Amino acid sequence: MPDNFNKKDIKLHRCNVDLIGGMIFINFSDNPTSLSNVKRDLAEVMEMYDFENMKIAAHKTYPIAANWKVTLENYQECYHCAPSHPEYSLSHTLKVVPEKFDELQKPMESRMEACGIKNIVHDQQYEKQEEGQEQFAYGRYALYEKYKTGSKDGTPVAPLLGNLTGYDHGGSDMNIGFLTHFLIYNDHALVYVFRPTGHQTSVCDQYWLVRGDAEEGVDYDLEKLTWLWNVTTLADERIIVDNQKGINSKKYAPGPLSDMEYLLDKLYDWYLGELEKAKTN
Ligand SMILES: [Fe+2]
Repeated sequence: MPDNFNKKDIKLHRCNVDLIGGMIFINFSDNPTSLSNVKRDLAEVMEMYDFENMKIAAHKTYPIAANWKVTLENYQECYHCAPSHPEYSLSHTLKVVPEKFDELQKPMESRMEACGIKNIVHDQQYEKQEEGQEQFAYGRYALYEKYKTGSKDGTPVAPLLGNLTGYDHGGSDMNIGFLTHFLIYNDHALVYVFRPTGHQTSVCDQYWLVRGDAEEGVDYDLEKLTWLWNVTTLADERIIVDNQKGINSKKYAPGPLSDMEYLLDKLYDWYLGELEKAKTN
């Protein structure tokens, strides 16, 4: 680089950057949505689990031969969980039909306070999105009684996160924007970042987070920590790619959604609305 170089000559573009719980969020739009509501409304969540001081214990990239919308659809419904994810379905109650769901949440809800977990719900996902603000959602659901966390046998795989004092046998789903999703257990958290990479290719970057002072080999074992979501994501890749092959068929015609795919209707409405807005801008 010459001594007299001028930053402007490098032709870099400006990029919108913001921080939430120590994580860097980037938006390439010329007219980015604001993260101010997300920061305000998720502040308690970030503090409770101490996201600011978590560290990345593992990161895997899963290339998926499917359009990003097919990949994202898969993550937004659990109709496929029971038949496709036997490992996940042993521990997570999201696989059940909505009528049975509330009853299964009660044991967890009765334990939350004693474990230092506030019962926070933000159900703004795809609906009630304030103009100019990024969409987000947060809510907690129960694991089956034997499971303290998302692990092979239900036993913890890392030290308790943040200010937590025990196991309520639950996990929190959270999303910030529609491509960044989280699953927060008491001892570790998962981050899933979906990226379009081509017309029929996308990527799921998966991060396993543990508390910042946890030491590999002492406080956590990478194989045990990553087992569940590695095996589950590989199964998802298979069914997503199969879906894309079906969609590519000249005989393909979309069918009705099941009750368990309620979020997909909202996703479609939201996405079509965004396309309309983009046309008029
Ligand atoms: Fe899945």
